[in-house]
Amino acid sequence: MATSAAHLNIGIIGAGRIGKVHAAHLARHVPRARLAVIADVSEEAARACAQENGVPRAVADHRAVLDDPGVDAVVVCSSTDTHARIVTETAQAGKHIFCEKPIDHDLAKIRRALDAVERAGVKLQIGFNRRFDANFARVRRAILDGEIGQPHLLHIISRDPAPPPISYIKVSGGLFLDMTIHDFDMARFLIGAEVEEVYTAAGVLVDPAIGAAGDLDTAVVVLEFANGVIGTIDNSRRAVYGYDQRVEVFGSAGGVRIDNNYPNTALISDAGSVRRDLPLNFFMDRYTESFLAEMRAFIDAVLDNTPTPVTGHDGLAPVVMGIAARKSYDEHRPVRLVEVLSQ
Ligand SMILES: NC(=O)c1ccc[n+]([C@@H]2O[C@H](COP(=O)([O-])OP(=O)(O)OC[C@H]3O[C@@H](n4cnc5c(N)ncnc54)[C@H](O)[C@@H]3O)[C@@H](O)[C@H]2O)c1
Repeated sequence: MATSAAHLNIGIIGAGRIGKVHAAHLARHVPRARLAVIADVSEEAARACAQENGVPRAVADHRAVLDDPGVDAVVVCSSTDTHARIVTETAQAGKHIFCEKPIDHDLAKIRRALDAVERAGVKLQIGFNRRFDANFARVRRAILDGEIGQPHLLHIISRDPAPPPISYIKVSGGLFLDMTIHDFDMARFLIGAEVEEVYTAAGVLVDPAIGAAGDLDTAVVVLEFANGVIGTIDNSRRAVYGYDQRVEVFGSAGGVRIDNNYPNTALISDAGSVRRDLPLNFFMDRYTESFLAEMRAFIDAVLDNTPTPVTGHDGLAPVVMGIAARKSYDEHRPVRLVEVLSQ
């Protein structure tokens, strides 16, 4: 189902926060892509996004994108609760799919969507953009090239600058499926192995309203990988100094570490201290280039008929880990992922 055309004609479904980012990238910075149509249930949002990016067509009903014979691939950026259905319909329409994370919070729905993709033989890439960040990619390369020997320990620090609104927390699937999901993906990506067991210690230390909404805001998840590596993910919904995104991997021959990205490298020294500006504040600033790189990788995979770098299985596995992490907290015990998979 690969196309031999020089360009891939794209439809975007969902012109919200992330849809606008992908639209701008595809319109301006991905020469092998042509944006053909934007859909959003808010026709006004679709029209504004189309106008902004020189896209000829804007529609309210996503099925108009699927019915358009001129569209080769669809970028799904609508709300999470629509992803599984739209992925299934897009596969049935014979179009390739880039789907924002997560595919769904429900494993049965994810499996049904992945089955539809498999049956249709179309390509699917999931939007775990951090894999395409230059820092994280360098850590992965250090591991792949044996620069640190055999990895033994992984530490991921991932703290947001501020919690999202409570209205979002209520529908987001909770800390583990909304925020930690990126870190679960990063853990699997960096170590190159599956996680078999998780143990969670967590609490509500930032805002009692988050607890009242049934969620957590502070957590450490311990990971046991199939290859023996032990990992930790340390999350907070609020780091007062900004977006805190760091990783260390320690191995038999050394270690590799990445620090936060800053808007500049200036260090101010005076008689009392040495100081610098705060890190880049949130994901739109910190991960801008990775959003572009993942889109280029998707277009290349379709046009060159190579495997997509983030597969449907990569979309499923972190959801399993998120469900297991919450179960571990609720039941106050380590949880093996097979327990969740067999439910
Ligand atoms: N990879 C990342 O770092 C990242 C970052 C942000 C968002 N996301 C994901 O992207 C998705 C969208 O998030 P957002 O922040 O852009 O949300 P948003 O609410 O800003 O935008 C969603 C848009 O989808 C539209 N929409 C909803 N149902 C639709 C349908 N059936 N057909 C067409 N349009 C529809 C809404 O009108 C809205 O404009 C979520 O699944 C989120 O998890 C991923």
